[in-house]
Amino acid sequence: MKQIYDSQAFRKSGHELIDLLADHLAAAQQGKIPVLPWETPDNQFAFWEKYDLEDSEVNTLFKDIIERSIALNHPRYAGHQISPVAPVAALAALVAAFMNNGMGVYEMGPASTAIEKVVIKFFAEAIGYEAVADGFLTSGGTLANLTALLAARSVHAHTDVWQAGHAGQKLAIMVSAEAHYCVDRAARIMGFGEEGILKIETNDRFQMQTELLDNQLEKAKENGFQVIAIVASACTTSTGSYDDLDAIADFAERHEVWFHVDGAHGGAAIFSEKYKSLLRGIHRANSVVIDCHKMLMTPAIMTALIFKNSQNAYKTFNQKAQYLWKEAADEEWYNLAKRTFECTKEMMSIKFFCMMQLYGKQGFARYVETLYDLGKTFAKLIKERPQLELATEPASNIVCFRVYHPELDLNENNRINSHIRQTIIESGEFYIVQTTLRNTVYLRTTLMNPFTTESDLEALLSMINRVEM
Ligand SMILES: Cc1ncc(COP(=O)(O)O)c(C=O)c1O
Repeated sequence: MKQIYDSQAFRKSGHELIDLLADHLAAAQQGKIPVLPWETPDNQFAFWEKYDLEDSEVNTLFKDIIERSIALNHPRYAGHQISPVAPVAALAALVAAFMNNGMGVYEMGPASTAIEKVVIKFFAEAIGYEAVADGFLTSGGTLANLTALLAARSVHAHTDVWQAGHAGQKLAIMVSAEAHYCVDRAARIMGFGEEGILKIETNDRFQMQTELLDNQLEKAKENGFQVIAIVASACTTSTGSYDDLDAIADFAERHEVWFHVDGAHGGAAIFSEKYKSLLRGIHRANSVVIDCHKMLMTPAIMTALIFKNSQNAYKTFNQKAQYLWKEAADEEWYNLAKRTFECTKEMMSIKFFCMMQLYGKQGFARYVETLYDLGKTFAKLIKERPQLELATEPASNIVCFRVYHPELDLNENNRINSHIRQTIIESGEFYIVQTTLRNTVYLRTTLMNPFTTESDLEALLSMINRVEM
């Protein structure tokens, strides 16, 4: 045990580890390493299965892990929606990992519990909520969306579902056909079934067609459904499209339905004067989800769930755990597990708080603006090339496009684009992904790295051209 907890050994390898990570950051930023060191899953498994560290320093292991991981700090990383972390936030994550405060009750995280309240206030003010707003941090957008919808159910279901179950009620939610799959999953977890997920068609910009809402609600009622919530995407995962939040808020108010905004990716635009108009109406939502590990430079995983009315934040889990809380019926803001799925939770607030302190709202605004601007630049480059086609004009830093040959059929065009994406990622030169929209395969980029330049994007398009020939 003494060897495991030796402070001198920790000090030595810790110093070396920071050097290793700083070297990696510099090499990635300068493009001196592959974005993704491509290896098949089976070969990767074979490597780690026979890995032997007996005679090596622990930093040899960390070096091997770093060299076999995807490098988000590389300016040619443009794949899934996860931030290259602000180095200071990575240091905070180390503090969180080391102190390991459990967060369920106040004593198990006094500093990080109070900091969490400060962080939530920061989000609530940027959304435009009044002082009665409140919320908490939780482990990811998926869990946060489910938590918000559970709160919506406890407010809008006819009976106390937590005690009595659904008792014959047919509950449903309304959501855009382009919403992230976790919303569909949340409704199924809550027992709504496929019929309880009313998917609203999207327009040519992949936004919910709000003019269909009244009709759809009427039909649902005729079929015996009670719609408890409508979920807006701000923005969608596939194309980065923002639903019209004001129009959805009007609908929700008219029909007394809970209005939830899934801003896991694009909610971060609340910090930007330039782009916050994309979120016009967000302050009218009953609940909002924003992922900090997506567009706010925070190490995974950390999500803010903010409620317009703090009372609703306590409604999700109406169950008692007397050994944890003095009076389960009391609203004790400082005993966070009363409101979250997690019992034990990481000290996530400190990862964000250090950036708030050092860089302020402006730091978050600059990150969002740099990347959303880059999305527009990339769209311009794509439109200059006749063999390429945009799925839609980007509203954010998510840009979908494809190589399109009018003389070939859909299957052949799809095959060509899938082949291009696989060849590119195996080369290690760029990392991009693909998505299928209305049966058509598109190359999908999320411009996550603020050091990606126009010439990186030109190089990507040239490579696509080369691969295709
Ligand atoms: C719009 C949206 N909602 C929810 C999620 C899920 O978030 P998480 O990966 O944090 O669970 C994603 C992830 O891509 C997303 O884009």
